[in-house]
Amino acid sequence: AVRVKFLGRKGLLTQYLRNLGQLSIEEKQLYGKRANEIKDILASSFEEAQGALAALKREDALRREAIDVTLPGRRSGYGRIHPVTQVLEEICAIFSGIGFSIVDGPEIEKDYYNFEALNMPRNHPARDAQDTFYFDQTNLLRTHCSAVQVHSMEAMKPPIRAISTGKVYRRDPFDATHSPMFYQVDVIVVEEGITMGDLKGMLDAFLKRLFGPGTLTRLRPGFFPFVEPGAEVDISCIFCSGRGCAKCKQSGWIEILGAGMVHPKVLRMSNIDDSRYSGFAWGMGIDRVAILKYGVDDIRLFFDNDLRFLRQF
Ligand code: DAH
Repeated sequence: AVRVKFLGRKGLLTQYLRNLGQLSIEEKQLYGKRANEIKDILASSFEEAQGALAALKREDALRREAIDVTLPGRRSGYGRIHPVTQVLEEICAIFSGIGFSIVDGPEIEKDYYNFEALNMPRNHPARDAQDTFYFDQTNLLRTHCSAVQVHSMEAMKPPIRAISTGKVYRRDPFDATHSPMFYQVDVIVVEEGITMGDLKGMLDAFLKRLFGPGTLTRLRPGFFPFVEPGAEVDISCIFCSGRGCAKCKQSGWIEILGAGMVHPKVLRMSNIDDSRYSGFAWGMGIDRVAILKYGVDDIRLFFDNDLRFLRQF
């Protein structure tokens, strides 16, 4: 604004020069020369002042944007492994250490793999206990990892030693002991000459690794359509070492998994010669193991994502 006022086209200096017209030639020369000198002085003064202002502005900006590179950084907190994943990884490590293949199966599964090929045809009453979400006649959310046994038997030739872990889904309430989504591990072994003794030996060794060397194992008869004979497997109570307490309802035992000898029909449906091969299988809930190992009293805590809970593991 100041520059326009003095040097602009309608500024004071222009007006002054215009007025020179009324003067004599000598006066014109004298005042004209003087006016041009003033114009130069003003122009260079303005330039100087503008330069000084810009420098001030730059300095100010630098001061405001300054970063103290010597300040210590702010760390974001470390995450940690979820307790259920910790147990899952521990189980996988045990079995990959003794030569098992770790096999993955889909959570959206075919009726055939989840039920049919495991000797649970349509209308079999055992399906009731494992009601699930059906997308259509063929596709459903798998109710157990045993479905992966069928994929393993189709993909591999005996000897088969495979383990699968992951999420399974059921039409269960969401309460302290149930969840419509939970985790399982399922193991299958198919070879020549496999007996119930192999199953018992493996379970005993595995459960001692998982729950401690003092753990005792007990098999009771149990029914699962895909095994014959089938068994419910208990461990000696890890809270009272089998003496009897509230946790084991004074029995000294805690039910931990289902197991059995793979049903010959199940072998045949996956094109395995049941006159030559036999096998065993077992399946276990991983959340339940985490509940026992860490003394958690409500399964929902695993899925609430409350950091106050998760930071304890
Ligand atoms: N799949 C069964 C369940 O979810 C558990 C089970 C029982 C798995 C016996 C097995 C087995 O592999 O042999 O209740």
